[in-house]
Amino acid sequence: MVKAIVGANWGDEGKGKITDLFARQADVVIRFQGGANAGHTIINDYGKFALHTLPSGVFYPEVTNIIGNGVALDIQKFHDELEQLVAQGVPRPRILVSERAQVMMPYHPLLDTYEEERLSDKAFGSTKSGIGPFYSDKYAKIGFQVCELFDDALLKERLEKVCTLKNAVIVHLYRKPALDPAALYDEMVRQRELIRPFVADTFTFLHQALEEGKTVLLEGQLGTMKDPDFGIYPMVTSSHTVAAFGCIGAGIPPTELKEIIAVTKAYSSAVGGGEFVSELFGDEAEELRRRGGDKGEYGATTGRPRRVGWFDAVATRYGCRMQGATGVVLTCLDVLGYLDEIKVCTGYEIDGEITREFPVSCKLSRAKPVYTTLPGWKCDIRGITDPEQIPAQAKDYVAFLEKEIGVPIVMYSTGPRREEIIRR
Ligand code: GDP
Ligand code: IMO
Ligand code: MG
Repeated sequence: MVKAIVGANWGDEGKGKITDLFARQADVVIRFQGGANAGHTIINDYGKFALHTLPSGVFYPEVTNIIGNGVALDIQKFHDELEQLVAQGVPRPRILVSERAQVMMPYHPLLDTYEEERLSDKAFGSTKSGIGPFYSDKYAKIGFQVCELFDDALLKERLEKVCTLKNAVIVHLYRKPALDPAALYDEMVRQRELIRPFVADTFTFLHQALEEGKTVLLEGQLGTMKDPDFGIYPMVTSSHTVAAFGCIGAGIPPTELKEIIAVTKAYSSAVGGGEFVSELFGDEAEELRRRGGDKGEYGATTGRPRRVGWFDAVATRYGCRMQGATGVVLTCLDVLGYLDEIKVCTGYEIDGEITREFPVSCKLSRAKPVYTTLPGWKCDIRGITDPEQIPAQAKDYVAFLEKEIGVPIVMYSTGPRREEIIRR
């Protein structure tokens, strides 16, 4: 059977921690979209890690970790991250890379960076990992599947064509040095040797695994609000962040997807531009940012301060619905222990009308938050795993969010470490 672990919001909900936790009972863990722009923080017996490309099942030697066909595979980053993991004492994990996965080419991060520079104060706030240019090329049919790197003639010919096209923009629009197809060819020949041992027919592997009754986890990157169709377009990412896309990005039949766990934080955070209705500013924001996550709310990939705000029940209810969540895991409940009162955004006021439905981006920019205020619990619950020791106000807060979201909260997390979790 297949379970998905996905984000209900703007990303950084704690998917890494939850996938690492669930992977204990899984046989296969797959990343199905996005690329090294992810930053999934995991704190377990091996130490602290921020995984960007590797699936979060890599801490279990018996789990097969797959980079699915839907991923933007940066080979150098994949290699470096794996070696770093092993250097930190983690047993070398089992990893397969789909032969259909496409490769992040050296010019993709360059184009991402040049464009953000050009846009200046109108920039998207991308991670500059090349994600936008990568997926544009994939759908424009000028990308490179991993298997194609091993075909010399094809590689040379395609690189010539791509460079002609890219150089028109690089030289004339961005006024940067032209790409050299011969140098790119050499670079990709070097990179293909790094990836060669991992390349596999993961489609057939997965079908056999499912036939044998194995448990497969799909690990999402980012969350619903950054989906190119259902998120805050255009301040989104360039691959689908919803569980439904897991079937495509991993290569499994939709009928196999039985359980969808949407992860959400007990407050909101977002990186990059775009609407964020319940955002906090000033001292209030600074304090929440400082206390959030494991060591403050700072991007695991870019180190940028994350925007923070109150829990947005409108966005999360929509986010969970779009994911098709069968259960919710609420993270970072411990972070809110310092507050006298906690606000929850339970509605949006748009043009004088109050709604609970998450609108399209052009209306979202006019939305003002409508808050319900709940009492805080004013104590530190970090690391508590016994529900009996959780104060009534904290339990009431969880119950309130559950009612608002409309999906059972199956677990809540009281700290960043693997074992800091309470089942309900
Ligand atoms: P992901 O991208 O969804 O995997 O989430 P990130 O790892 O980028 O961000 C989540 C942050 O919250 C990380 O710093 C985690 O270590 C941290 N975290 C996860 N769960 C908890 C929790 O229950 N309590 C606290 N205090 N931090 C948590
Ligand atoms: P995880 O998996 C938070 C943000 C970027 C930008 C937008 C698009 O850890 O949740 P892109 O790189 O696709 O051009 O970025 O999404 N972003 C993230 N924000 N967590 C991430 O990953 C992110 N990956 C990208 O800041 O606004
Ligand atoms: Mg993250």
